[in-house]
This record gives sequence, structure tokens and C-alpha cells, in this order.
Amino acid sequence: MSILTTIEQGILTLEFDRLDKKNAITAAMYQAMADALRAADADPAVRVIVIRGKPEVFTAGNDLEDFMQRPPTAGEGDQPAPVFQFLQQISQASKPLVAAVSGPAVGVGTTMLLHCDLVYVSETAKLSLPFVQLGLCPEAASSLLLPRLLGHQRAAEKLMLGEAFSAQEALQIGLATRVLPVAELNEFVHQQARKLAALPASSLRETKRLMKGGEKAAVQAKMAEEGEVFRRMLQAPEAKEAFKAFFEKRRPDFSQFS
Ligand code: COA
Repeated sequence: MSILTTIEQGILTLEFDRLDKKNAITAAMYQAMADALRAADADPAVRVIVIRGKPEVFTAGNDLEDFMQRPPTAGEGDQPAPVFQFLQQISQASKPLVAAVSGPAVGVGTTMLLHCDLVYVSETAKLSLPFVQLGLCPEAASSLLLPRLLGHQRAAEKLMLGEAFSAQEALQIGLATRVLPVAELNEFVHQQARKLAALPASSLRETKRLMKGGEKAAVQAKMAEEGEVFRRMLQAPEAKEAFKAFFEKRRPDFSQFS
């Protein structure tokens, strides 16, 4: 399935487990995570959720081949496509979300962190938002949340140029909670999750709701707007050229598009 799921001592851990493809996320993986998050929200046995990758890589973001073969749609039956279900679940989770990020965290690998409560990154973490480089646009309400965090001009450098930034920079801009040596990351995150699991769950839920409640409607509205543009851009020739270039291991040529 490529997502490892465990529930132990009140902690649900979701782990990307597709190292040969740098933990790139397929529709099936989004669905597994969305389902696990939905179930966790309703399960009193789950008090905290940890999302982690491998020491080598958090995730290379959306699986570009899967995206080309099965582009996400607004609705499949009653439900939006798995990626949008995942984004909805992560942005509306009522329980604490803790991320452990080591190595590259590309695209959604970085935008999902905007919805986590505690974000621990290793010294090797490398975050990037190359949506424009792929002929796409931001998702996960990052076009709202990142400018809010950084101011427009610094957010524009991340969202327009898509240049990768370090763990230290993530800490400095307020996207990461703390930087740790890679060998200590998972154990530290586990300890923090255990502390959260021992606290009164209702108090944590209310605290999170109070902290995030004010921006909830704006986040949902921005995600819907981004989703619409993203789906359209995924079908456009710019994205097709960018995706093709990635698999042909060459630089994309956007000069033919105005
Ligand atoms: N979708 C599908 N396959 C991917 C992928 C992705 N997002 N990212 C990596 N892979 C695959 C590669 O095609 C390669 O497959 P192969 O061994 O069959 O050729 C394998 O994973 C290893 O990737 P590679 O690029 O050789 O690893 P690297 O260590 O040199 O670089 C990354 C790692 C993450 C920096 C690089 O793979 C990358 O930039 N990936 C694309 C990220 C991206 O644009 N994501 C979409 C964001 S919306």
C-alpha cells in the first residue's frame, strides 16, 4: 500500500513507505491517508497523529506519473479525488498533528506542514514548492497560508521560483518547530507525541480549534479555488511538458507557451 499505519498508545503513525520512488504519493496512498485520518478523528483511541517519511526522504510530493494517468477530479461519486480528500482531512483534523520531516519534502510534502501543529525537521530536510516549475499552481491553501506566514514578497520567492530551502530557514520563518539531528528525529517526535497523548484530549482539541478556528472558512474557500485551477492546469500543455521532461531527465522548455 506504501503507507504504513500503526496505532500504539493513542498515537496513529502514518509513514510513507515507497523509498524506491522517493515516497512519491499516488492516489491510492492519498486515499489510505485520508481514510486513516477520517477514522482517527472519530476514534477515541487515537489522541495524536504522527506523519513521517524515511530518514532519506519525507516525500517527493505527488506521483507525477499517477497524476498524468489518473488526473484528480472534483468528484468521484460523492467524494472528491483522494488528494482533495486528504487535504480536507489534514486541514480539518481536530486532533494534534505532528510531522517528522527528513530529507526532501517536495510540493504537498511541504504544504501539508502548514496544517500540522508540531513540525520537527532534521538537519537534512529540504523543503520546496515547485508548482510553477511544473506548470501548476499552489495547493493545500498554501497560496493563503504561506503569504500570511512570510509576507507576500518572501512567499513569492518560495511559490514562484520554487527554490528549495533548508531546515534552518524553515525554523526561522516559522514553518518548523525545531531542527534535530536526523538520527534523533523519530525518537524525539515519538516522545513529543507521547506527551500529547497523555494530556486531556478535550483540552487539546479545544485549544487547536481556538487557534485555527478564525481561518477555517478562508482555508476551505482557498483550497476549493486552488483545486479548480490546479485541475485545469494539470490538463494544460505546460504541465504535460514539465512532467514529460521530468521522466526524460531533461529541463522543460516553456518557451513555446505564452
Ligand atoms: N513522481 C513520480 N516518480 C518520482 C517522483 C514523483 N514526484 N519523484 C521521484 N520519482 C522517481 C524517479 O522517477 C525515479 O524513478 P526511477 O528510479 O524509476 O527512474 C526515482 O523516483 C528516484 O528519483 P530521482 O529523481 O532519481 O532521485 P533523486 O534523489 O535524484 O532526487 C527528488 C529526489 C525528490 C529531489 C527528485 O526525485 C524530484 O525532484 N522529484 C520530483 C518532485 C516533484 O516535482 N514533485 C511534484 C510536486 S507537485
